[in-house]
Amino acid sequence: MHSLDQFAQAKLDDLQRRHLRRQLTETVREDGIWVERDGRRLLSFSCNDYLNLTQHPTVKQAAVAAIRRYGAGSGASRLVTGNHPLYAELEARLARIKQTEAACVFGSGYLANAGIIPVLIGDDGLVLVDELAHACLFAGAQLSRGTVMAFRHNDVAHARALLAEHRGKHEHALMVTDGVFSMDGDLAPLAELKALADDYDTWLMSDDAHGLGVIGGGRGSSYSGNAHLPIPLQMGTLSKALGAYGGYLCASSAVIDLIRNRARTLIYSTGLPPACVAAAIAALDLIEREPAYAALPVQKAKAFTERAGLPAAQSPIVPVIIGEEEATLAASQYLVEQGFLAAAIRPPTVPAGTARLRLTFTAQHPDDQVARLANIVRERILR
Ligand SMILES: Cc1ncc(COP(=O)(O)O)c(C=O)c1O
Repeated sequence: MHSLDQFAQAKLDDLQRRHLRRQLTETVREDGIWVERDGRRLLSFSCNDYLNLTQHPTVKQAAVAAIRRYGAGSGASRLVTGNHPLYAELEARLARIKQTEAACVFGSGYLANAGIIPVLIGDDGLVLVDELAHACLFAGAQLSRGTVMAFRHNDVAHARALLAEHRGKHEHALMVTDGVFSMDGDLAPLAELKALADDYDTWLMSDDAHGLGVIGGGRGSSYSGNAHLPIPLQMGTLSKALGAYGGYLCASSAVIDLIRNRARTLIYSTGLPPACVAAAIAALDLIEREPAYAALPVQKAKAFTERAGLPAAQSPIVPVIIGEEEATLAASQYLVEQGFLAAAIRPPTVPAGTARLRLTFTAQHPDDQVARLANIVRERILR
């Protein structure tokens, strides 16, 4: 066997032995909640399509109209000829919703984080990251070549201690956190982190991938408290509640202008297909018009946690932590037999020993099915 294939096979065998090997499973998403897998129709509690907008007729129509008008792809980087007219409208809408001066749309949330952080922090800078923040925030922090430190999850005192000790050694510092944690569903203490960042002349960036559309009346986690928090760097994605694809940063005009000039993942990557941008605009319209609909995913998640005997949900994401990988896979398979899709999430996506079912609730999940799932989780999985 070629040494390259030997290398790959040995790695795969090791993953298999540790129950960590992953597979791509073909999934046909029928509508906002039902999927077909291996010939079975399952009710999905694993999609991030919190408002079921991937399948909304108005959103789909907007995407189709954009393809007819502007074509299937954008043809080049935004800085060359890929900056079709829909971008300006989407960026103005995002800036308005987040109350910032400007916004910049990227090819994806991952590309956004990988691009933004190295523009702001160089090898003499400091990046503080919540230990449970999304992998692409760590990727962006590593790409910056600055000093990267993780603070304990949502532990403002620990972040303060790190800043007190290390801030003075660096010219610039950036603190980054998920607004809604993608695998745990809890919210970051953004008000406290903002005050801390201000105390230490540190820039704060929140990743609101799972907040926009579902938290704070649909406007995101910077609106989850009583007043809007003016977080200077508000990043997010168009791929979850908005049902489209792409990432964004909302910030001051100066910062956005700098990002457009320096973010390598923006400059050296093709612009989004027009359909994605049009779909995101249509989705934002719906969210702004119907805050009561935007509140439904969290309501469903709360009904679930109450019935299942779990801590109250703070977002549409509810972790059912099992611990061992094998037991988590077995629980996921058991739910398939009951007609539910609930993906098993294993390390390194989550810390070792915390493998889990990550359940996501959406506006259109029927209440009786939410209750049935809660009963099964309480009586058969967590028993
Ligand atoms: C918190 C968080 N940030 C960023 C991303 C990446 O966004 P995208 O899927 O648009 O690349 C995700 C999604 O996986 C996420 O959960």
